[in-house]
Amino acid sequence: MNIRTVFTILCCFYSCFVSAQSRKELMLEEGWRFIKGEQVGAEQPSYDDKAWQDVKVPHDWAITGPFDKEVDKQTVAITQNGETIPTEKTGRTGALPYVGVGWYRTDLPKESFDSRKATLIFDGAMSEATVFVNGKKVGYWPYGYNSFYFDITPYLNKQGGNILAVRLQNTPESSRWYPGAGIYRPVRLLLTNTTAIATWGLAVSTPVVSETYAKINIKAALEEAQHRKLRIKTAILDNQGKVIKNHERDVEMIGRLFEDNIELENPSLWSPESPSLYYARVSIYEGTDLLDVDSVRFGIREVQINAEKGFILNGKARKIKGVCLHHDLGPLGTAINKAALKRQLLIMKEMGADAIRTAHNMPAPWQMDLCDEMGIMVMAESFDEWKAAKCKNGYNRFFEDWAERDLINLIRLHRNHPSIIMWSIGNEVPEQSIAGGNRIAKRLQDICHREDPTRPVTCGMDRVDNAIASGFAAILDVPGLNYRTQKYELAYDKLPQGFILGSETASTVSSRGVYKLPVEVLKQKTYSDGQSSSYDLESCSWSNLPEDDWQLQDDKPWVIGEFVWTGFDYLGEPTPYDEYWPARSSYFGICDLAGLPKDRYYLYRSKWNKVTHTLHLLPHWNWEGHEGDTIPVYCYTDYPSAELFVNGISQGKIKKNRDSKLDRYRLRWNNVVYQPGTLRVVAYDENGTVAEERQIHTAGKPVGLRLTADREELVANGNDLSFVTVEVVDKDGNLCPQANLPLTFKAKGAGAFKAVCNGDPTSLELFHEPMMKTFNGKLVVIIQADKKAGIVHLNIEGKGIKSKGMALAVK
Ligand code: GAL
Repeated sequence: MNIRTVFTILCCFYSCFVSAQSRKELMLEEGWRFIKGEQVGAEQPSYDDKAWQDVKVPHDWAITGPFDKEVDKQTVAITQNGETIPTEKTGRTGALPYVGVGWYRTDLPKESFDSRKATLIFDGAMSEATVFVNGKKVGYWPYGYNSFYFDITPYLNKQGGNILAVRLQNTPESSRWYPGAGIYRPVRLLLTNTTAIATWGLAVSTPVVSETYAKINIKAALEEAQHRKLRIKTAILDNQGKVIKNHERDVEMIGRLFEDNIELENPSLWSPESPSLYYARVSIYEGTDLLDVDSVRFGIREVQINAEKGFILNGKARKIKGVCLHHDLGPLGTAINKAALKRQLLIMKEMGADAIRTAHNMPAPWQMDLCDEMGIMVMAESFDEWKAAKCKNGYNRFFEDWAERDLINLIRLHRNHPSIIMWSIGNEVPEQSIAGGNRIAKRLQDICHREDPTRPVTCGMDRVDNAIASGFAAILDVPGLNYRTQKYELAYDKLPQGFILGSETASTVSSRGVYKLPVEVLKQKTYSDGQSSSYDLESCSWSNLPEDDWQLQDDKPWVIGEFVWTGFDYLGEPTPYDEYWPARSSYFGICDLAGLPKDRYYLYRSKWNKVTHTLHLLPHWNWEGHEGDTIPVYCYTDYPSAELFVNGISQGKIKKNRDSKLDRYRLRWNNVVYQPGTLRVVAYDENGTVAEERQIHTAGKPVGLRLTADREELVANGNDLSFVTVEVVDKDGNLCPQANLPLTFKAKGAGAFKAVCNGDPTSLELFHEPMMKTFNGKLVVIIQADKKAGIVHLNIEGKGIKSKGMALAVK
């Protein structure tokens, strides 16, 4: 085997690209050392870091806690929530120790020493990153949510011994939620020739799209201007890597840019229902010398939004069924993991969602890859703050100097993802009501258009009257309203666009498995236990119920869809318990912090999932001490009618009622008298025929556990995860819906215990300790695969509980 063949094999091994003879990308995952706190001289190669902790990147230094009420305690008035008087807010940023300085060091891999050009790419580092190579400052990037890169070639010793050091700093009162801390997304080292396509230098668009024909435009930017003749080969490959179109020509280069157009017959169009993907590969030769080859994945699809038909994908109008997602992964913190990201998206897709909004910042590249592959549309957001502060030390400190650079990076890195259907320049920025705010909006939107003329731009607006009066809202390609359903008509009448997007909706609050009596529609309701009711009737002073949004979407053709706040609970922002301790994570999620569906999941599913039926009953049927009391029973279903039985006695057959908001989408029996036993619902289809039934039984004593893994087979790569749902059950297998049982966990064999979460927003138990109480009968244990194949056994112990545990295969 000659040296060139070895090199080629190595490149294929390391690179994530389809073909990469002249460039390779190394993931800098292992071999990092970390310490919290300022360290003088830590950037110097001679610095002794032996006492530092060995870590793998992605890494979140704060997720191991402990939770502490004093961490980043903020005495503030949250003006966007309508508050005028400052009060003490604990848990606003998750009560986790993210504030402070952290240092990372690693030895750069040998491959970089003799390369002609080395570029270091950070997918995201929280925050205010200063990067050093061999003791010299290479660069600085303040915004923790953005991806950024530096050319480190001039700083490298060709002889070896190259040390990379990264200093991060998180300031108190810099966030409205848990931002995480550390190098929480991958770091990549890109090695190329000096004549190479620039980092994020390929832009693929599809200016003509139809079922029979598509035109593909490929724009490329070289790293440096060239004044010579180059031969450019462009190829389109299908998702299996097979070349399906080739184009080759000589270009007399005078500058950095060139482009190509390729036609494709009978393209497979990308959509949520059929996420077809292609690759575009660009090779640059001088004579017969290959200088560079770079590939990007793309999809062929057309997005239009207009007053006549609303939101249109590939020629078909549809309403966006989206959810907002914060970036943390619950018990894993912000350190991203592909399996965890994929699980989140699968859960949302199973509910029937077809879109996510990356609230309120730039997405992780891995997440966008998954959205492309799984068929999930994306509103990719950028900022929660512009110049005017929402948090004293928020992005307002950087906006003037960095906003354009941040938008450029967002767009150049992500523009080839077919899943991204629009950019968002901001969320609820106070500039909506500040003179000159409209000019800032225009400037930011213009930057987006300049960088990517193919996608529309939006901004989430909450100060609707002001945004209309100032001209702010009229400037936007897509006017996005956050909540304020009562303002939709007005905005539609006054604005020129002819359609409205619910850029943020609902913010209904609930705790999984908690049901409060009496059942009422309530705003800002708090209870002494720090929980909210899962009858799904509680919201905030500014927010609403799912039905308020659905009525608009169903009755007004000009409402183009919604992004619900939020798909999952997230760390921080424990509204309506901002002033209550302990409360350290949100109540807004359709799923809890562990990713377990709350009842609301089935309400959205009943409306959104058009593939399989939904038939879900609530509450549980264990109401000891309430015998003879009224316990309302709700059914979330796509069937039009159903009959409810308590211990075989009919409570009436009811059907959905278009004229009553709460009965239009739910079936409610409000006067059911509780008797222990069996609750049974029988659903009828459109023809009045019995279609399906469900039962809930009053559970007996907890005696066992039911374990269900989201995946029973893991990849032996040291990173793959299985999420095992643990349910406490009685002798007949009924869920014990009030069991809060302490359990301990042990994993042996080809994997390890990673984390555990029970979804209780008031719990101060630590996610990384192998013990936790179930919350209302459930929790989720996360098992991480080793690099070696084998079997991993999860054993769980609890007082009075028999469990065989579970075995997972690692392959
Ligand atoms: C919105 C805001 C979100 C979140 C939400 C809670 O106003 O955009 O970030 O705070 O309220 O309801």
